Amino acid sequence: MLEWIQHGGGPVVNLDKLTYAGNMNNLVSCRHDPRHIFIRGDINDLEFLESTFLKYRPKAVVHFAAETHVDRSILKPGQFISTNVDGTFHLLEAALKYWGRLPTQGQEVFRYIHVSTDEVYGSLGPAEPPFTELSRYSPNSPYAASKAASDHLVRSYHSTYGLPVITTNCSNNYGPFQFPEKLIPLMIVNALAGKPLPIYGDGKNIRDWLYVLDHCEAVRTVLAKGNPGETYNIGSSNERSNIDVVRMLCWLLDELRPNAAIGSYSSLITFVKDRPGHDRRYAIDSGKIQRELNWAPRETFETGLRKTVLWYLEHHSWIQDVQSGSYRDWIEHNYGDRGVSCGA
Ligand code: DAU
Repeated sequence: MLEWIQHGGGPVVNLDKLTYAGNMNNLVSCRHDPRHIFIRGDINDLEFLESTFLKYRPKAVVHFAAETHVDRSILKPGQFISTNVDGTFHLLEAALKYWGRLPTQGQEVFRYIHVSTDEVYGSLGPAEPPFTELSRYSPNSPYAASKAASDHLVRSYHSTYGLPVITTNCSNNYGPFQFPEKLIPLMIVNALAGKPLPIYGDGKNIRDWLYVLDHCEAVRTVLAKGNPGETYNIGSSNERSNIDVVRMLCWLLDELRPNAAIGSYSSLITFVKDRPGHDRRYAIDSGKIQRELNWAPRETFETGLRKTVLWYLEHHSWIQDVQSGSYRDWIEHNYGDRGVSCGA
């Protein structure tokens, strides 16, 4: 959203339920921009969706709304089915009704972009090639299964009704504004507070990291040039083990925010009980979007990670604001059971 506005995009209706990770402070930079209309609402409220479509008559839908945190899906899967599966179904229904009544030319240009994840493909062995758009779906967590179900629903609305949908499957995002429940921001905020840096299992699980602004640019590219009915994998070939990522973060913090009392932040690294069903390795082959739509990532992992650490260092009050009571409850719940105290 912020990237869209900054790049001179047209008017946007930003629909958000503002659940625990949503935050109006994230939108301060476009508060007075007439191109940005914020509406608080739920994608499971069909009547509300239908009236919103009729009121604003959008040229496209970009569906980012989701429950996204794997650990939360393990402890409470129901919300993931409700938002990711039922919510996608309701959004598709409302979009289809609206699209069906557009004049032919409006129907031709309309796009429904479904933003999904590489987790739908399951886990790779050490020597397997990265996931392509043709990889078999094999989701392992309730979160991944809910996204896989939503991908299939979206696909069916194209095959059955002709709705011009496009699905994107991206790898692990990182960057500014990421809620500190995900690996990278959690490690930064814990390190700055002198708290343990909890690594699940042996720390050798591999993720393929994508800087959030590269992801935004890829989604804009797909919206502008993607072909209806297609799927595109988005990633930037940055495979790293978790322990390597956390060590890199510690070195950056040692350089940018030295703390004599702690010594090296690496001393805070603590191995804890593993995540159940923990996927060993993800890697994305983004050759299709690079070849066909001419997108390429701008950041390397080193440049992106440095920008990310600097952003968190410069946004101390943002960090404090998001560490509310419910955040503290989550940290206690997820890490207390692993025998480590990361309490805020
Ligand atoms: O691959 C794309 C997916 O990446 C997205 O679809 C998900 O919405 C997003 O949450 C992310 O899933 P992961 O489970 O890979 O991300 P997370 O940041 O939770 O964990 C990254 C890795 O770090 C994973 O192997 C688990 C590990 N980890 C995570 C946390 C929160 C730890 O070792 N310690 C932790 O405290």
